[in-house]
Amino acid sequence: MSMIKGFHHLTAGVSGAQEDVDFYVKVLGQSLVKKTVLLDGEDPIYHLYYGNANGDPGTLVTSFPFRQKGVKARPGSGQVRVINYSVPVGSLAFWRSRFQNMGVSHDRDVTERFSEQRQRFHHPCGIEFDLVETDHDTRAPCVAPDIPAAVAIRGVHSITLSLREVAESIPFMADALGFRYVGESGPHHRFETAAGGPGMVVEFLHEPDRLQGSSIYGEGTVHHVAFAVDSMAEQMVLKERLMAMGYIDTSESVNRNYFRSLYFKMPGGVIFEAATTDIGFAIDEAPGHFGEEFQLPPWLRERKDELLGRLEPIVA
Ligand SMILES: [Fe+2]
Repeated sequence: MSMIKGFHHLTAGVSGAQEDVDFYVKVLGQSLVKKTVLLDGEDPIYHLYYGNANGDPGTLVTSFPFRQKGVKARPGSGQVRVINYSVPVGSLAFWRSRFQNMGVSHDRDVTERFSEQRQRFHHPCGIEFDLVETDHDTRAPCVAPDIPAAVAIRGVHSITLSLREVAESIPFMADALGFRYVGESGPHHRFETAAGGPGMVVEFLHEPDRLQGSSIYGEGTVHHVAFAVDSMAEQMVLKERLMAMGYIDTSESVNRNYFRSLYFKMPGGVIFEAATTDIGFAIDEAPGHFGEEFQLPPWLRERKDELLGRLEPIVA
């Protein structure tokens, strides 16, 4: 049994902050779960968390709006290429018409993979997303006044990694992380953890000719994917295992205020994280009020006015 329960969050570098809020909240009906700052580096950059209203792990996608600093990341292989959200079967027509009406870039045709219908669309900064139809996602729907439950997003369905080479990465998913190999479909390989199904699926897209992308914080790429583990004790078991396999660049357990993070690179170059589920978003805002106020970790709170003054105002 794998200690990986599924996804915790995905983190992307995007363009402007307000544009990002409008995409996740207004277009997709996600809740802004937390407004805080990137905790690495000196210059304040927002860290915006979106997901269902409870901020449940596996529904979370987070953004660093890097337009402010003018740093661009380079899309390529060795990255999470596509974020896939799950929606109920029969809902793609609703979303296609919504994307049309709201001016969201999307592909003309629905596609199918592993017997699931999917619709490609794009974040304003260019990051690729798919909506994947499934009736096997029992998580609470992310409803909005104009998004009924029957078509609403349930959370992250899966991620699609772009990899130039998969020889070491395929066994890594089982040996290091305990994922099961499910099968292949053309250049795609699919893996599942825990019970499998939405929120527990990783796909590789084997793209031998796609040049290596960047790993920096910057606009236009998904920087990393975080998987959910229970605790720091589990992170240390994972770290020992990775070190024993030769992945000696595995990080320490880093305090991210709402969880602890352990970082490592999988063989194909994608930055993976194991994030703990034992802290959560209720440490500074009560459930029902997540994302209402700008929040800082204790060690930055005395700089709140200064940091806010260097960030563009945003309205959710
Ligand atoms: Fe993370």
